[in-house]
Amino acid sequence: MMREKILELKNLKKHYPVLGGILRRQVNSVKALDGIDLDLYRGECLGLVGESGCGKTTTGKAVIRLHDPTSGEINFYHKGSDVPVDIARMGRGEMKKRDIRRKLQMVFQDPTTSMNPRMLVKNIIAEPIRECEKLGSRELDERVKSLLRLVGLDDHHLLRYPHEFSGGQRQRLAIARAVATNPEFIVLDEPTSALDVSVQAQILNLLKDLQQKLGMTYLFITHHLFVVKYISTRLAVMYLGKVVEISDTGELFSNAMHPYTHALLSAIPDTDVDAEPDRIVLTGDVPSPLDPPAGCRFNPRCPFATDLCRNEEPVLEEVGEGHKVACHRKFELAQLSKR
Ligand SMILES: Nc1ncnc2c1ncn2[C@@H]1O[C@H](COP(=O)(O)OP(=O)(O)OP(=O)(O)O)[C@@H](O)[C@H]1O
Ligand SMILES: [Mg+2]
Repeated sequence: MMREKILELKNLKKHYPVLGGILRRQVNSVKALDGIDLDLYRGECLGLVGESGCGKTTTGKAVIRLHDPTSGEINFYHKGSDVPVDIARMGRGEMKKRDIRRKLQMVFQDPTTSMNPRMLVKNIIAEPIRECEKLGSRELDERVKSLLRLVGLDDHHLLRYPHEFSGGQRQRLAIARAVATNPEFIVLDEPTSALDVSVQAQILNLLKDLQQKLGMTYLFITHHLFVVKYISTRLAVMYLGKVVEISDTGELFSNAMHPYTHALLSAIPDTDVDAEPDRIVLTGDVPSPLDPPAGCRFNPRCPFATDLCRNEEPVLEEVGEGHKVACHRKFELAQLSKR
């Protein structure tokens, strides 16, 4: 089956300025997202994992243009078109005019911060629809009701306020609002991390279900590899503003090649600890994205780093069908782990 692209990120960067001195001039920048190349295919769920601060949320916000990227391209392919438009620098008005705005949505970890506490559920969900369509009030009401049902809530929830809901229900509301405009692509930023385990599973099932019913593409951001193992078809691993490894989910779990991916995998709680004699344990914190280390960004924490790693930045290279790794020693290390 030919995979159809929906988004193509090319050398995408987002640097946040750091101001200093009495003149409040820019003295440095936080390289939160420092040049990533990534293709997303229609209908897939791509997991994006990595430690806190590595730039996952920044990536999500830049892709849907909640934040303006510093440089690079975001090529968006309209449904059925093989000619993309670069939306990296497109104005908000232009995006709305070309009907792109509503097609890109985002769901956050904590829905309370993105919902007006004084607004009724009915209006919270109707708001994004009003922005892109003119509907009569009866029609709008029907649409809102059917969205509530779609996410497992009821008509009687219409006239309530967000604080009257449980965390899981509030996340359902956030999802209803995100799918209200029939988006093609949704960034899910830790959508289940604030919920307890049983509710997490329900929300994951709901998201999986909706993806199939509505044919959406997801970028699923999380710290928890085992969460995305269940829902993602492919996984990208980020470290300090860069993608260091990407492959199909199964391949990543069975055949990870980057030492950082190995470290993330061995951090998953496992009852059978003895099964992995050469676990890589991550020590120290992620270095500051103000001044990323020279060479490979992972080198100060990597047990296998050599002079080459300290001096030259590795590029993301294809090592197998759809499997890419950015590590100078990938082949030697693969030999090591096979022994
Ligand atoms: N608005 C901002 N202004 C300045 N720096 C920012 C801003 N937003 C994020 N950063 C910095 O950019 C880096 C990446 O942040 P980001 O939120 O993308 O990480 P993350 O991978 O989503 O982390 P977490 O898992 O904790 O959510 C961090 O060093 C963060 O401090
Ligand atoms: Mg984040």
